[in-house]
Amino acid sequence: MRVRVLRQVSPVSTPYWETFEYDGPEDNSVAGVLDYLNYHDDIVDINGRKTTRIGWECSCLQGICGSCAMVINENPALACETFVRDLKGKDIEIRPLRKFMVIHDLVVDRSSIHENLKQANVCIGEYQPSEDTDHAHQCAAAKCLKCGLCLEVCPNYVNGHTFFGAAFANDCYLAASRNRSKAEQIRELYADHFGKDCSKSLSCMDVCPMKIPTLASMAKLNGMKS
Ligand code: FES
Repeated sequence: MRVRVLRQVSPVSTPYWETFEYDGPEDNSVAGVLDYLNYHDDIVDINGRKTTRIGWECSCLQGICGSCAMVINENPALACETFVRDLKGKDIEIRPLRKFMVIHDLVVDRSSIHENLKQANVCIGEYQPSEDTDHAHQCAAAKCLKCGLCLEVCPNYVNGHTFFGAAFANDCYLAASRNRSKAEQIRELYADHFGKDCSKSLSCMDVCPMKIPTLASMAKLNGMKS
């Protein structure tokens, strides 16, 4: 099986494709494939040319941290949750997420997700429960990994400067639901950085590895009273 990887030495260098031969187990995840290719001291491409280790990020290797988010065969996905056997014998093509600056190979700078949350001062903060607190949905919304897969497919998210994306919407819901006295203020921020420009393609929900019902977060936030 061939593995094509879009590589880039630094944020300012030109990206290029490199192809590798993978003859490891089919039970491996794409994260396992990258590990396998990086394993030897002498790493060569498919033509036997010596090359460098492929840069990529991982931590948990069990779909919890979100750091291995990338584009695999044109599908935004977590590398540790995408298995070779499910690619049905196809060659694998891997590229970094396209809505963020590439730092090195498959490693991108996703700090804008957190910077936007900080800028809008959306944080859970003090807990002031109200009678109609929806614990089940709070729990679902809190599963956001901030992996950035939803932003890869979002037609409205360009560079994160004005439209902040689904992660922001879910965190707005969470913050407002836990502190109703701030709900109005949070709803205004939500409208400015999400609500006004979301075209409701909802592709974010299709790719979310945690299956977060973002549409429900939006509806609940809109219907929330301070
Ligand atoms: S390594 Fe943590 S989600 Fe893949």
